[in-house]
Amino acid sequence: MRLKAFFVIFSLGLPVYMAAPVPPCNVARLTSADIIAMAPKASSCAAAPFPSECATATDAAPWVNMAYHLFDIHAFGTQAALLSLMLYESGSFKYDINHYPGVPGQGTRNMQTPVFNLKYARWLAANVTDSGISMQQVEDAETEGPVQVLALVNGDRWSFASAAWFLATQCDEVIRLGLAAYTEQGWNTYLTECVGTTVTDDRTSIWKKTIALEKW
Ligand SMILES: *[C@@H]1O[C@H](CO)[C@@H](O)[C@H](O)[C@H]1NC(C)=O
Repeated sequence: MRLKAFFVIFSLGLPVYMAAPVPPCNVARLTSADIIAMAPKASSCAAAPFPSECATATDAAPWVNMAYHLFDIHAFGTQAALLSLMLYESGSFKYDINHYPGVPGQGTRNMQTPVFNLKYARWLAANVTDSGISMQQVEDAETEGPVQVLALVNGDRWSFASAAWFLATQCDEVIRLGLAAYTEQGWNTYLTECVGTTVTDDRTSIWKKTIALEKW
């Protein structure tokens, strides 16, 4: 009886699996050890040039997991790409403010530009009930300037979620499918056509390291 039930499930399951356009849900949670495997420097903040900006892998892991959950980022390839971008842009989580060259209001863990930090702050104020950011605060900060707008979204909770927000709200479906499939072409297209940056060896080598883990 058991065996029969197994075959029934298997035969129903197979065509569904083959038809699936994206890899299945990655239910495992990212751990600090996974982050350290990708970026060994994230193990400590001891030598951080701006200690107040630094987060260790242990600090970061729960916030990154929360961001995946909030923005429905379930495919391993997509999770890996977002984490690669954040680790690259923040120098293994040593920074959350742009210092080189030092664009005022540019920051968060994916070094989002000021225009998008404002959009992000508005989005959070309007769409997340307990975001801790009110529309009034966003308007006040906007009047004061981009540094104040960045400060609204640059705590742990939201600075580790901006890359996920950006992908979910500012990129199109083709980009999201390309990341989920974790092809190098998908990664390149994400960088050039949505993030608006260039493909470099440094960026791609961290992505390759992450993809090589195959799962968390
Ligand atoms: C709230 O979320 C929806 C869906 O992403 C979006 O279209 C809308 O612009 C957001 N509101 C603000 C103020 O950003």
